[in-house]
Parts: sequence; structure tokens; C-alpha cells
Amino acid sequence: MRVLGIETTCDETAVAVVASRIGGDGGDILSNEVMSQIAQHAAYGGVVPEIAARAHIDVLERLIVRALDTAGTDIAGVDAIAASAGPGLIGGILVGLTAAKALALAADKPFIAVNHLEAHALTGRLTERLDFPYLALLVSGGHTQLVAVLGVGDYKRLGSTVDDAAGEAFDKVAKMLGLPYPGGPHIERLAEEGDPARFDFPRPMFGREGADFSLSGLKTAVRQEIARIGTPTERDVADLAASFQAAIVDVLVDRVRSGLRIFTQNGGQPNGLVIGGGVGANGAIRRALTRLCAETGLRFVSPPPGLCSDNGAVVAWAGLERFARGMTDDLTFAARPRWPLDANAGSLHHGKA
Ligand code: KG4
Ligand code: ZN
Repeated sequence: MRVLGIETTCDETAVAVVASRIGGDGGDILSNEVMSQIAQHAAYGGVVPEIAARAHIDVLERLIVRALDTAGTDIAGVDAIAASAGPGLIGGILVGLTAAKALALAADKPFIAVNHLEAHALTGRLTERLDFPYLALLVSGGHTQLVAVLGVGDYKRLGSTVDDAAGEAFDKVAKMLGLPYPGGPHIERLAEEGDPARFDFPRPMFGREGADFSLSGLKTAVRQEIARIGTPTERDVADLAASFQAAIVDVLVDRVRSGLRIFTQNGGQPNGLVIGGGVGANGAIRRALTRLCAETGLRFVSPPPGLCSDNGAVVAWAGLERFARGMTDDLTFAARPRWPLDANAGSLHHGKA
């Protein structure tokens, strides 16, 4: 079974073709074309929705052709067409969603509307064999949440951020430090040279019951420290980056630990922990979660960084998982800029199954 997946919810235009393997052993990525718009947004220090939507229109058609070519197939050779229908920026979503519906209509193929967060949550099953249930930590520029993944379309949110998303915190702190957008990778690089113990930044929610996150207080603490220093030297900037990252790592590990407790208290035994979303590319976070999992005897599934950040392969895979279960969607399916993951369960609007 082969599915074409389209991703346009934020600042990456991405198209991929993914094939299923026999026996539920993950999938094969036949092509994975990603065109980042970062350069076009850089001057503004963040994603400009209008620019994003136009840029998706400019390149999507070419990417679809390239993804099919690279996969050695054409539109007749795929079994279904999937697109992220949200959550994200409405202008961008409409571009990918409309293209997918048009292709489905023209080629007479089933269409699948994918929740972008679901795509991140199911990535662990694309890269290797991972059975339900498991825990997913979704950390991106727009979302930070812990999700119990019980089955396809069956998600329970255990906790989420009450203010900033993890990527947002990385990006805002990077901006304060004079680093380019998106700031996550720059902070990570600088942190390697800095002293993580120099600044004792707060670890919001650490040790707190539940699995919610809060990151805006940490960001404010960094801002105050920068103001106190005045004009930070290169050394200061590296130490600020390292100390900030150390605080985020501690918070994420603590929240995952708490999420695991909630998971097991509710009668479940997760088969693993999966990380998804752009921040999941962060080496310090991955190493800390690897340690936590080794300590708790949990399997850690960390997809390669390219599959953590936004891409078409994970959308195609989520589409394939749905398609394999008969969960296709009507061409009237509307874009959902806000689309909580756990509202999927039992939703009358999603899927025919
Ligand atoms: O999932 P993603 O590609 O797009 C969204 O859906 O938001 O995530 C982008 C976010 C940005 O905030 C970026 O700064 C962050 O992921 N990011 C990182 C790293 N690479 C990307 N944050 C920390 N460390 C990294 N290495
Ligand atoms: Zn994402």
C-alpha cells in the first residue's frame, strides 16, 4: 500500500510517498521532499502566515511531481492521498488540503485528512515496530504535550503547556540573545560551549503533580538575567544558552516521568516513549530522555531529526495507518486551524470508520 502525504501547516512545504511493510513492521519512505521557507521568514524573526501561504502555493506542485518521480510512481500508482488538515496556519493548510482533495478527485483515490499532531505521534511506528499503547512527547514551535497513544485515532492528552511551547521558548530566548530564527538549533550549538550551571534558572512545574508544562517563566528569567548583565559577552551568551537548555531538559524529563506515572496509574503499561516535533531534534533532550528510559526500563523511540521536524513522510504514514483501517474522509472535510488531538476520539466529523 502506498500513500502520498502533503504537509503545509507551518513553514515547511513537504510531500512524501510512503509504503507499508507486510506484518506491521513500520513503513518504507519512497520519497520525502521538504522545502523549508525559513529564509523567507528570517527577516521577520518568525513565521509570517501570509508569506507562508504564498510560498506553499509557489512550490507545492513541483514538490508533488518530484515526490512521485523519486518514488518511481505516478498518481495512479498510489492508493490514497493524505494531507495535514490542521492544526496550524489556515492559509497554509488550505493550500495543501485543497491540492490533496483535487488530486484525490481527479485520480479517483481515497482522501485522508490527517491531524498534524497525530502524524508526529505515530512517527514511532513508521521508523520501527512499536505496538500500542505508548507515550508520545510532542515538542514543536506551536505545541508541547504528552499524549497516551492508545491506537490510531485514539489519543489521550496527559498534559500540555499552559503558556509557551518548547520551540517557542527556544525561539524567543534565541531572539533575546541575538540569534537567528528558528533559534533552537543555534541555542543547542552554543550550549555545547557554555556552562549549564552558571545561571540557576527556574524549572517551572518541576515535581508538580500532573503532566502540564509551563515555560514562559523560564523565558522571563532569561530576559531578566540578560538585562542584569547589560551587554552579554560571547561567553555570557553561551552560558545563558547552556543554562536555559539545561532547565528545559530538566523540565521535560520531569514531566515525562510524571506522565509515565499517570499512564501506569490508569492501568496502562506503555510499550515505549516516542519523541516528535522539531524540538525533538535537540541532542541534549534526546540524551536525557535516553537516560530516563534506560533508568525506567522503557523503550525510547527517537525518530531521526528529519522525521521529528515537519515533513511529508509522517503525514503519509499517518494517512496510511488510517487508510489501512478504513478511515478515509469526505472531500468536504474542512481545514481545522485548531484541532486538539484527543478530540479525534469518537468525533463524528472525522473518518467514516
Ligand atoms: O515541528 P517543527 O518543525 O514545526 C512546528 O510545527 O512548529 O518545530 C519547529 C521548532 C522551532 O521552534 C525550532 O526552534 C525548534 O523546533 N527546533 C529546535 C531544534 N531544532 C528545531 N529546538 C531545540 N533544539 C533543536 N535542535
Ligand atoms: Zn510539527
